[in-house]
Amino acid sequence: MRVVLGVSGGIAAYKAIEVCRRLVDAGHHVTPVLTDAAVHFVGETTFAALASAPVQRSLWEGTIPHTRLGKTADVVVVAPATADLLARYAAGMADDLLTATLLATRAPVVVCPAMHTEMWEHPAVQDNLARLVARGVVVVPPETGRLAGGDVGAGRMAEPAAIVAAVAAAGGPRDLEGRRVVVSAGGTRERIDPVRVITNRSSGKQGHAVAEAAAARGASVTLVTAAPLSVDAPAVEVVRVESAADMEAAMVAAAPGADVVVMAAAVADFRPKASAEVKVHGVPELVLEQTPDILAELVRRRDPGQVIVGFAAETDDPLERGAGKLERKGVDLLVVNDVSAPGVGFDHDTNAVTILSAGGGAVEVPLRTKREVAEALLDRVVGLLTTTHRDPPRTAPADQTGRTAT
Ligand code: CTP
Repeated sequence: MRVVLGVSGGIAAYKAIEVCRRLVDAGHHVTPVLTDAAVHFVGETTFAALASAPVQRSLWEGTIPHTRLGKTADVVVVAPATADLLARYAAGMADDLLTATLLATRAPVVVCPAMHTEMWEHPAVQDNLARLVARGVVVVPPETGRLAGGDVGAGRMAEPAAIVAAVAAAGGPRDLEGRRVVVSAGGTRERIDPVRVITNRSSGKQGHAVAEAAAARGASVTLVTAAPLSVDAPAVEVVRVESAADMEAAMVAAAPGADVVVMAAAVADFRPKASAEVKVHGVPELVLEQTPDILAELVRRRDPGQVIVGFAAETDDPLERGAGKLERKGVDLLVVNDVSAPGVGFDHDTNAVTILSAGGGAVEVPLRTKREVAEALLDRVVGLLTTTHRDPPRTAPADQTGRTAT
């Protein structure tokens, strides 16, 4: 992709050098555009050595029309985006090459704010950001950590890896535009009493990655999650649940009308038959019962043409067990992972899976980030939507009862 990397004048500009290097390493063609303030923090020579094209700084130098960079870019990313840059962009100003490029482009724009906490929290900055988000700009939010001058707080620019991932997502395919996708994630928690629960080792990272990737590809996404993770995609509607019963209710409410349902959650297989209202003292004798099979219920209620995806975490004979489960569960795709393999499954940021298809065939995805595994799964889903299931894109139903947006 052709990426314009805008750098405005903040101390985090030093991290933009790493962003530039990683973008080039990932195969992108990168043209850095530095503001006058940026060159107080980082040298033009450094970018010149790393980037794919000469550094651009001025509206008045050379023969490049001020709109050309914006028009030819596949993605424009601004890292760091200072409070001043966000204000000028939100106001539609074009008083330097970077803001002119931002105004001239029709490509996706990603901004990565970085500033002191007081500035970040100021309503003026938040208002400007809200205006940009409303116009479709992707924001990679700052993190909390050490800031220039030794202060600690919110406002530190996101890490280069997160920025590069956001650029890839912004410029990636929009092949789920107009589709509605419902994803479950995390390990459910079944109460013994108000303090103790039965749960499992699922982190929820894979399900969250599926939700975020689907949103980046244009889907309207509902994520029903039992995981205490934040969601890095403002367009994802998040429903927080605790138990298998909560998750079943939320999934059954969300699935009708959806084009795709992905059960990535690790639903507890059993729960206490009765949970105590007050804390239990001593060692209780637990009587367990089976939880509802949510996936089976969703398959029973499936809309015509709806693509349903199940997951299976196995430790022995994963493929053989997976093939049996694919048939038994009646799903279109089953994502099988061998959670005993190194770097795979619970709590890792990486995964290796085999995607089994009801129509026959298996796609092996070797050890990759969970986001990359999610993209590989969505490639298969899109294939099914466009070949087997020929529904035209539908819009989200008006009734979103019981779901909360975050
Ligand atoms: N699942 C579900 N409800 C349950 C248990 C599992 O919806 N009560 C879903 C999971 O989200 C997953 C798929 O079913 O998508 C397979 O889960 P898994 O635990 O591997 O299947 P089980 O039917 O519980 O089989 P096993 O006997 O191997 O545990």
